[in-house]
Amino acid sequence: MADSEVIVAAFTELAPNYQPTIDRELRIFWGISYEQFLERFIAQAHIREGEIVLDVATGTAYIPAHIADQVGEQGRVFGLDITPAMLQHGTVKLAAAGLLSSTRLVCGSGMAMPLADGVFDVILCGLGTHHMQAPKLLSEMRRVLRPGGRLVVADAAATAFWRSFAGALMLRLLLFFYVMSLRSARARAERDALDSLYTAGEWGALLAEHGFEQIEISEIRALRRYVPGGVILQGVRPAAQP
Ligand SMILES: C[S@@+](CC[C@H](N)C(=O)[O-])C[C@H]1O[C@@H](n2cnc3c(N)ncnc32)[C@H](O)[C@@H]1O
Repeated sequence: MADSEVIVAAFTELAPNYQPTIDRELRIFWGISYEQFLERFIAQAHIREGEIVLDVATGTAYIPAHIADQVGEQGRVFGLDITPAMLQHGTVKLAAAGLLSSTRLVCGSGMAMPLADGVFDVILCGLGTHHMQAPKLLSEMRRVLRPGGRLVVADAAATAFWRSFAGALMLRLLLFFYVMSLRSARARAERDALDSLYTAGEWGALLAEHGFEQIEISEIRALRRYVPGGVILQGVRPAAQP
Protein backbone atom coordinates (compact mmCIF):
# COMPACT_ATOMS: atom_id res chain seq x y z
CA MET A 1 0.00 0.00 0.00
CA ALA A 2 1.28 3.50 -0.83
CA ASP A 3 1.48 5.92 2.07
CA SER A 4 -1.40 8.36 2.29
CA GLU A 5 0.66 11.33 1.04
CA VAL A 6 1.42 9.53 -2.23
CA ILE A 7 -2.25 8.53 -2.59
CA VAL A 8 -3.53 12.06 -1.96
CA ALA A 9 -0.94 13.48 -4.41
CA ALA A 10 -1.92 10.88 -7.03
CA PHE A 11 -5.65 11.58 -6.84
CA THR A 12 -5.22 15.35 -6.51
CA GLU A 13 -3.35 15.17 -9.83
CA LEU A 14 -6.01 12.91 -11.36
CA ALA A 15 -9.14 14.63 -10.01
CA PRO A 16 -9.84 17.01 -12.97
CA ASN A 17 -9.56 14.12 -15.49
CA TYR A 18 -10.77 11.22 -13.35
CA GLN A 19 -13.72 10.09 -15.47
CA PRO A 20 -12.01 9.97 -18.91
CA THR A 21 -8.87 8.39 -17.41
CA ILE A 22 -10.68 5.59 -15.59
CA ASP A 23 -12.98 5.04 -18.57
CA ARG A 24 -9.97 4.57 -20.86
CA GLU A 25 -8.24 2.21 -18.39
CA LEU A 26 -11.34 0.02 -17.90
CA ARG A 27 -11.83 -0.24 -21.69
CA ILE A 28 -8.19 -1.30 -22.12
CA PHE A 29 -8.11 -3.76 -19.18
CA TRP A 30 -11.66 -5.14 -19.04
CA GLY A 31 -13.26 -4.08 -22.34
CA ILE A 32 -16.05 -2.17 -20.58
CA SER A 33 -16.74 1.52 -20.09
CA TYR A 34 -16.71 3.17 -16.65
CA GLU A 35 -20.48 3.62 -16.96
CA GLN A 36 -21.00 -0.09 -17.72
CA PHE A 37 -18.78 -0.96 -14.74
CA LEU A 38 -20.79 1.30 -12.40
CA GLU A 39 -24.13 -0.09 -13.57
CA ARG A 40 -23.00 -3.71 -13.15
CA PHE A 41 -21.50 -3.03 -9.72
CA ILE A 42 -24.32 -0.92 -8.30
CA ALA A 43 -26.99 -3.37 -9.55
CA GLN A 44 -25.53 -6.00 -7.17
CA ALA A 45 -26.40 -3.85 -4.15
CA HIS A 46 -30.21 -3.89 -4.76
CA ILE A 47 -30.53 -0.54 -3.02
CA ARG A 48 -33.99 0.21 -1.66
CA GLU A 49 -35.85 3.41 -0.92
CA GLY A 50 -35.10 4.82 2.53
CA GLU A 51 -31.74 3.07 2.95
CA ILE A 52 -28.66 4.75 4.43
CA VAL A 53 -25.73 3.98 2.14
CA LEU A 54 -22.00 4.59 2.55
CA ASP A 55 -19.70 4.69 -0.48
CA VAL A 56 -16.09 4.21 0.69
CA ALA A 57 -13.33 5.74 -1.52
CA THR A 58 -16.08 7.68 -3.25
CA GLY A 59 -13.67 9.82 -5.30
CA THR A 60 -15.56 12.36 -7.37
CA ALA A 61 -18.90 10.94 -6.15
CA TYR A 62 -20.04 9.13 -9.30
CA ILE A 63 -21.51 6.35 -7.16
CA PRO A 64 -23.50 8.67 -4.83
CA ALA A 65 -24.76 10.54 -7.91
CA HIS A 66 -25.99 7.21 -9.38
CA ILE A 67 -27.78 5.97 -6.27
CA ALA A 68 -29.25 9.14 -4.73
CA ASP A 69 -32.51 8.58 -6.65
CA GLN A 70 -32.71 4.95 -5.52
CA VAL A 71 -32.68 5.83 -1.78
CA GLY A 72 -35.23 8.60 -2.33
CA GLU A 73 -36.08 11.43 0.07
CA GLN A 74 -36.14 9.22 3.17
CA GLY A 75 -32.71 7.73 2.48
CA ARG A 76 -29.19 9.19 2.53
CA VAL A 77 -25.94 8.53 0.68
CA PHE A 78 -22.61 9.25 2.37
CA GLY A 79 -19.35 9.30 0.41
CA LEU A 80 -16.03 8.94 2.25
CA ASP A 81 -12.65 9.66 0.66
CA ILE A 82 -9.15 10.60 1.77
CA THR A 83 -8.42 13.05 -1.09
CA PRO A 84 -9.97 16.52 -0.63
CA ALA A 85 -9.55 17.40 -4.34
CA MET A 86 -11.62 14.36 -5.41
CA LEU A 87 -14.36 15.36 -2.94
CA GLN A 88 -14.32 18.97 -4.19
CA HIS A 89 -15.03 17.75 -7.74
CA GLY A 90 -17.70 15.46 -6.28
CA THR A 91 -19.38 18.33 -4.46
CA VAL A 92 -19.57 20.37 -7.67
CA LYS A 93 -21.12 17.38 -9.47
CA LEU A 94 -23.71 16.70 -6.74
CA ALA A 95 -24.61 20.40 -6.54
CA ALA A 96 -25.11 20.62 -10.32
CA ALA A 97 -27.42 17.58 -10.17
CA GLY A 98 -29.41 19.07 -7.24
CA LEU A 99 -28.39 16.16 -4.97
CA LEU A 100 -26.75 17.99 -2.06
CA SER A 101 -29.69 17.46 0.32
CA SER A 102 -29.68 13.65 -0.04
CA THR A 103 -25.89 13.16 -0.05
CA ARG A 104 -23.01 14.01 2.25
CA LEU A 105 -19.30 13.80 1.45
CA VAL A 106 -16.84 13.19 4.30
CA CYS A 107 -13.05 13.45 4.17
CA GLY A 108 -11.32 10.58 5.98
CA SER A 109 -9.72 7.18 5.67
CA GLY A 110 -11.58 3.95 5.06
CA MET A 111 -9.19 2.35 7.55
CA ALA A 112 -10.25 4.69 10.41
CA MET A 113 -13.68 5.98 9.45
CA PRO A 114 -14.92 9.09 11.29
CA LEU A 115 -18.38 7.45 11.43
CA ALA A 116 -20.53 5.92 14.18
CA ASP A 117 -21.05 2.16 14.70
CA GLY A 118 -23.92 0.26 13.08
CA VAL A 119 -25.40 3.10 11.02
CA PHE A 120 -25.40 1.91 7.41
CA ASP A 121 -27.78 -0.45 5.61
CA VAL A 122 -25.40 -0.83 2.67
CA ILE A 123 -21.69 -0.14 2.10
CA LEU A 124 -20.24 0.14 -1.39
CA CYS A 125 -16.60 0.52 -2.40
CA GLY A 126 -15.60 0.77 -6.07
CA LEU A 127 -11.99 0.56 -7.26
CA GLY A 128 -10.66 1.67 -3.86
CA THR A 129 -9.67 -1.36 -1.77
CA HIS A 130 -6.24 -1.79 -3.39
CA HIS A 131 -5.15 1.53 -1.87
CA MET A 132 -5.90 0.27 1.65
CA GLN A 133 -5.03 -2.59 3.99
CA ALA A 134 -7.94 -4.96 3.51
CA PRO A 135 -8.07 -6.27 7.11
CA LYS A 136 -8.35 -2.72 8.54
CA LEU A 137 -10.85 -1.70 5.88
CA LEU A 138 -13.07 -4.77 6.38
CA SER A 139 -13.03 -4.31 10.19
CA GLU A 140 -14.16 -0.72 9.77
CA MET A 141 -16.81 -1.66 7.22
CA ARG A 142 -18.21 -4.29 9.56
CA ARG A 143 -18.21 -1.82 12.47
CA VAL A 144 -20.22 0.88 10.68
CA LEU A 145 -22.67 -1.55 8.98
CA ARG A 146 -25.84 -2.28 10.95
CA PRO A 147 -26.45 -5.96 11.81
CA GLY A 148 -27.97 -7.47 8.66
CA GLY A 149 -26.39 -4.73 6.52
CA ARG A 150 -24.90 -5.51 3.10
CA LEU A 151 -21.43 -4.96 1.71
CA VAL A 152 -20.73 -4.73 -2.03
CA VAL A 153 -17.15 -4.13 -3.17
CA ALA A 154 -15.66 -4.08 -6.67
CA ASP A 155 -11.99 -3.78 -7.49
CA ALA A 156 -9.10 -5.10 -9.50
CA ALA A 157 -8.00 -8.56 -8.43
CA ALA A 158 -4.79 -10.56 -8.45
CA THR A 159 -4.64 -13.50 -10.85
CA ALA A 160 -3.40 -17.03 -10.24
CA PHE A 161 -0.67 -16.31 -12.86
CA TRP A 162 0.69 -13.48 -10.66
CA ARG A 163 1.11 -15.94 -7.82
CA SER A 164 3.51 -18.03 -9.93
CA PHE A 165 7.24 -17.19 -9.99
CA ALA A 166 7.12 -16.18 -13.68
CA GLY A 167 3.96 -14.11 -13.16
CA ALA A 168 5.35 -12.25 -10.13
CA LEU A 169 8.59 -11.47 -11.97
CA MET A 170 6.83 -10.25 -15.10
CA LEU A 171 4.48 -8.10 -13.08
CA ARG A 172 7.28 -6.40 -11.16
CA LEU A 173 9.16 -5.70 -14.41
CA LEU A 174 6.03 -4.23 -16.03
CA LEU A 175 5.41 -2.04 -13.00
CA PHE A 176 9.01 -0.88 -12.93
CA PHE A 177 8.77 0.32 -16.55
CA TYR A 178 5.30 1.83 -15.89
CA VAL A 179 6.63 3.93 -12.99
CA MET A 180 9.85 4.90 -14.83
CA SER A 181 7.98 5.97 -17.96
CA LEU A 182 5.21 7.95 -16.27
CA ARG A 183 7.06 9.21 -13.18
CA SER A 184 3.76 10.34 -11.68
CA ALA A 185 2.34 10.01 -8.17
CA ARG A 186 -0.49 7.91 -9.67
CA ALA A 187 1.98 5.42 -11.12
CA ARG A 188 3.71 5.15 -7.72
CA ALA A 189 0.39 4.73 -5.92
CA GLU A 190 -0.67 1.93 -8.29
CA ARG A 191 2.71 0.17 -8.03
CA ASP A 192 2.58 0.34 -4.23
CA ALA A 193 -0.96 -1.07 -4.28
CA LEU A 194 0.22 -4.35 -5.78
CA ASP A 195 0.40 -6.23 -2.49
CA SER A 196 -3.16 -5.19 -1.66
CA LEU A 197 -4.61 -7.00 -4.69
CA TYR A 198 -6.15 -10.38 -3.82
CA THR A 199 -7.53 -13.24 -5.87
CA ALA A 200 -11.25 -13.99 -5.65
CA GLY A 201 -10.49 -16.95 -3.34
CA GLU A 202 -8.32 -14.83 -1.05
CA TRP A 203 -11.10 -12.20 -0.85
CA GLY A 204 -13.62 -14.89 0.11
CA ALA A 205 -11.38 -15.99 2.99
CA LEU A 206 -10.83 -12.38 4.14
CA LEU A 207 -14.56 -11.63 4.18
CA ALA A 208 -15.28 -14.78 6.19
CA GLU A 209 -12.45 -13.97 8.66
CA HIS A 210 -13.98 -10.54 9.23
CA GLY A 211 -17.35 -11.99 10.12
CA PHE A 212 -19.27 -11.55 6.88
CA GLU A 213 -21.80 -14.17 5.78
CA GLN A 214 -23.72 -14.95 2.57
CA ILE A 215 -20.51 -14.24 0.66
CA GLU A 216 -20.82 -14.13 -3.13
CA ILE A 217 -18.03 -13.31 -5.55
CA SER A 218 -18.25 -12.71 -9.29
CA GLU A 219 -15.32 -12.01 -11.55
CA ILE A 220 -14.78 -9.45 -14.31
CA ARG A 221 -12.53 -10.96 -16.97
CA ALA A 222 -9.41 -9.10 -18.07
CA LEU A 223 -8.79 -8.84 -21.81
CA ARG A 224 -5.19 -10.02 -21.34
CA ARG A 225 -3.67 -12.64 -19.09
CA TYR A 226 -1.07 -10.40 -17.45
CA VAL A 227 -3.36 -7.52 -16.47
CA PRO A 228 -5.65 -7.65 -13.44
CA GLY A 229 -9.25 -8.70 -13.89
CA GLY A 230 -11.89 -7.56 -11.44
CA VAL A 231 -13.98 -8.96 -8.63
CA ILE A 232 -17.35 -7.96 -7.25
CA LEU A 233 -17.68 -9.12 -3.63
CA GLN A 234 -20.84 -9.31 -1.58
CA GLY A 235 -21.33 -10.12 2.08
CA VAL A 236 -23.74 -9.51 4.91
CA ARG A 237 -22.99 -8.56 8.51
CA PRO A 238 -24.82 -11.24 10.52
CA ALA A 239 -28.00 -10.02 12.18
CA ALA A 240 -27.21 -11.86 15.42
CA GLN A 241 -24.01 -10.52 17.00
CA PRO A 242 -21.42 -13.13 18.05
C1 LIG B 1 -9.82 4.79 -8.38
S1 LIG B 1 -10.57 5.96 -7.30
C2 LIG B 1 -12.22 5.29 -7.15
C3 LIG B 1 -13.28 6.36 -7.03
C4 LIG B 1 -14.72 5.87 -7.06
N1 LIG B 1 -14.98 4.88 -6.04
C5 LIG B 1 -15.10 5.35 -8.41
O1 LIG B 1 -15.45 4.16 -8.52
O2 LIG B 1 -15.06 6.09 -9.36
C6 LIG B 1 -9.83 5.52 -5.75
C7 LIG B 1 -10.19 6.46 -4.63
O3 LIG B 1 -9.76 5.87 -3.40
C8 LIG B 1 -9.42 6.93 -2.54
N2 LIG B 1 -8.67 6.40 -1.41
C9 LIG B 1 -7.41 5.86 -1.42
N3 LIG B 1 -7.06 5.50 -0.19
C10 LIG B 1 -8.09 5.81 0.64
C11 LIG B 1 -8.32 5.66 2.03
N4 LIG B 1 -7.41 5.14 2.87
N5 LIG B 1 -9.51 6.05 2.52
C12 LIG B 1 -10.47 6.60 1.71
N6 LIG B 1 -10.30 6.78 0.39
C13 LIG B 1 -9.13 6.37 -0.15
C14 LIG B 1 -8.66 7.88 -3.43
O4 LIG B 1 -8.57 9.17 -2.87
C15 LIG B 1 -9.52 7.82 -4.71
O5 LIG B 1 -10.49 8.85 -4.71
